Amino acid sequence: MEFKKEFEEKYSKLTNWGEYKEAISKFPRKSIRVNTLKISVKELKEALEKKSYELEQIPWCNEGFWVKERRDLATSEEHKKGYFFIQGSVSMIPSIVLDLNEEDLVLDMCASPGGKTTHMASIMNNKGLILANEAISSRLTALIFNLQRCGVMNTIVTYEDALKLKGKFDKILLDAPCSASGTIIGDSKHTERTLLEWNQNTILRLAKLQKKLILKAYELLKENGVMVYSTCSLEPEEDEEVVQYLLDKTDAKLERVNLDIKADWNNGIKIWPQYYGTEGFFVSKIIKE
Ligand SMILES: C[S@@+](CC[C@H](N)C(=O)[O-])C[C@H]1O[C@@H](n2cnc3c(N)ncnc32)[C@H](O)[C@@H]1O
Repeated sequence: MEFKKEFEEKYSKLTNWGEYKEAISKFPRKSIRVNTLKISVKELKEALEKKSYELEQIPWCNEGFWVKERRDLATSEEHKKGYFFIQGSVSMIPSIVLDLNEEDLVLDMCASPGGKTTHMASIMNNKGLILANEAISSRLTALIFNLQRCGVMNTIVTYEDALKLKGKFDKILLDAPCSASGTIIGDSKHTERTLLEWNQNTILRLAKLQKKLILKAYELLKENGVMVYSTCSLEPEEDEEVVQYLLDKTDAKLERVNLDIKADWNNGIKIWPQYYGTEGFFVSKIIKE
């Protein structure tokens, strides 16, 4: 892996560079989330273990498992039937943190390919209502396909710039478009491209959009509502600073993310790749009183 000088300088100030570099030299652990709309955790575990898949419980998600596996999980019969979703273990955190219930009206502002929408639908037992929005038309197919594969029935898909949405919601997930620097892990074409494209100007351009999106999310939130802001970026400009912008501009209240998880805390939790051998991720929980 080749790192730009600016990247190494910045990350050396943000974290332990040696530990980070060592962690991202390996591929992240594969993980799956059981789709409880179609099968119970016990049943799927038994079915996969019968086929000699080795599963290890993800501590923060009852339905989540790390899978020691060389075979392609996506082509398995169980995946095609929608019994599980291949999802990064840290990407399971936002839907858990939203405190969803079966009566909620939920907005998923930036939804494709639907990893978190399908998770929310299963937590809600296909009850309540989720509005899953996506602004890029070419990304709608994957979202709709995943909702259908997973048997999601409580979700309406909209195709709109999230900044133009209207209405009031009990819970809002803003899983924002970002530089994806947390996905720099494992020696792959994706890592190579993300490292090559990494630059401060892009990060600042994205931060501008994220600040608009977070203000919009807060505007769409009902009183006593909960929202979660998350990114797969490790850049403070796209994470902690976006949340700080919302706190400065509005009466939004920051909530602790109550999960037993090793993470840095500053306006939310930041999980570095070296903590669990996962992608890097940021999650912040906000309430409107
Ligand atoms: C991080 S991805 C979402 C991943 C998704 N939440 C999941 O868990 O599967 C961000 C998404 O936001 C979409 N997006 C970008 N700008 C947007 C906008 N202005 N309004 C709505 N969606 C947008 C992107 O096309 C992308 O699909």
